[in-house]
Amino acid sequence: MKTIIEPFRIKMTEPFRIISQDERVEKLDKAHQNVFLLDAEDVAIDLLTDSGTGAMSTDQWAALMLGDESYAGSRSWKKFEATVREITGMKHIFPVHQGRAAESLLSLTQVKPGDVIPNNSHFDTTRANLQYAGAQPVDLVVDEGLDPEDESPFKGNMDLEKLDQCIKEHGKERVPFAMITVTNNTGGGQPVSMGNIKAVKRLLDHYGIPLVIDACRFAENSYFIHEREKGYAGKSLIQIAEEMFSYADAATMSLKKDGLANIGGFFVCNDPDWAEAFKNALILREGFPTYGGLAGRDLEVVAVGLMEALEYDYQQYRHATVEYLLNKMIETGIPVMKPAGGHAVFMDAKSFFPQIEPLNYPGIALVNAMYEEGGIRAVELGSVMFGHRDEHGNELPTNLELVRLAFPRRVYTQSHFDYVLEVIKQVWEKRDTYGGYRITKQPKLLRHFSCWFEKV
Ligand code: F0G
Repeated sequence: MKTIIEPFRIKMTEPFRIISQDERVEKLDKAHQNVFLLDAEDVAIDLLTDSGTGAMSTDQWAALMLGDESYAGSRSWKKFEATVREITGMKHIFPVHQGRAAESLLSLTQVKPGDVIPNNSHFDTTRANLQYAGAQPVDLVVDEGLDPEDESPFKGNMDLEKLDQCIKEHGKERVPFAMITVTNNTGGGQPVSMGNIKAVKRLLDHYGIPLVIDACRFAENSYFIHEREKGYAGKSLIQIAEEMFSYADAATMSLKKDGLANIGGFFVCNDPDWAEAFKNALILREGFPTYGGLAGRDLEVVAVGLMEALEYDYQQYRHATVEYLLNKMIETGIPVMKPAGGHAVFMDAKSFFPQIEPLNYPGIALVNAMYEEGGIRAVELGSVMFGHRDEHGNELPTNLELVRLAFPRRVYTQSHFDYVLEVIKQVWEKRDTYGGYRITKQPKLLRHFSCWFEKV
């Protein structure tokens, strides 16, 4: 059969309503033109994030009831530990409440001021946690990853020459570890090849620098390797995942993505000194090491979810939905990042609104237009989220002004995406009529979550 269908039926539904366009304009105004500040009930289709927004399976709901809430050494912890060990092969396993807690404790324990941390592309919370510890996060993705039109299969790869250059320039003493993010969320959800992970590991070994994988979407990355990399078509996704982790010394994980859970994260590592330092920081900040800020029932849900994320049929269906929306947008001529990423469609706001200067935030203009037009909530990944400044404090634009339509896992159907497409087409048809924004209030770090905008 050519038609790829959802490998599940729907047993429970959650209603939403669509408020009128006039109401949406008013709500966005009240939210200071920042969709993060909207009430979720005023959103029709919420594509803000794929994080913690997925639907659980019947097996996960059943597992939830088995939660052992013992403070120390619970049964649920044992299941969590065994599953995470099976997939990652790591010696030391720590649950945390979500991905950024792992990043924060890793930064707290292994990073000092003046350090430099390379990555293909840091996610915003990773970047902010490293900066908070006084380090400099550096993005070293391959050049094709920065070109929305390039259709290379592994646009999330790390540029080995740039990595080598970076270590030589700063000195290996200042690089306590390097990271690689699979898939490369901020660069369009593009995958990283096994060949690249292996080569990065070899290069880092030469300098004695550990490799940390940011593993949020490791199962989606495994699917891409299965589909696109020579030698992997005959392997299962879990075998591919195991091989990926075998090249890492440690990993951070948000289980709100490929854990198919609504909350959770982990940190894993092989080095006993890293583990000891992490454990002590964990007890201080998150909780005892056998629950790490999670309830026993969350640990149960994750143990099931991690394995479901590695089911081939599930990944095949998920990718088909992302490709469906992307291909329809390409047919209409709407500028998007190609090829389809793992968890989202990324629109190129710079090409969508060429009349809006980067520092008038074309991405925000597109996000707000989609909300006003049809109640769709998306997110900007551009100069607001990744804005940085020169030594005189002047704001600098980023390379890419992207808008992400993230796909919550197992939540929306094809007709929801047909509706999304209709809304975007309407915005596209009157694209000349839109203008940009300026920021009127912002915090120092992670400003996109809470800053205020006004139209210019
Ligand atoms: N790393 C990556 C690559 C991520 O995409 C995220 C979260 C994190 C780390 C942090 O994990 O949210 O559990 O603390 N990404 C979400 C998103 C929020 O919308 O892309 P967290």
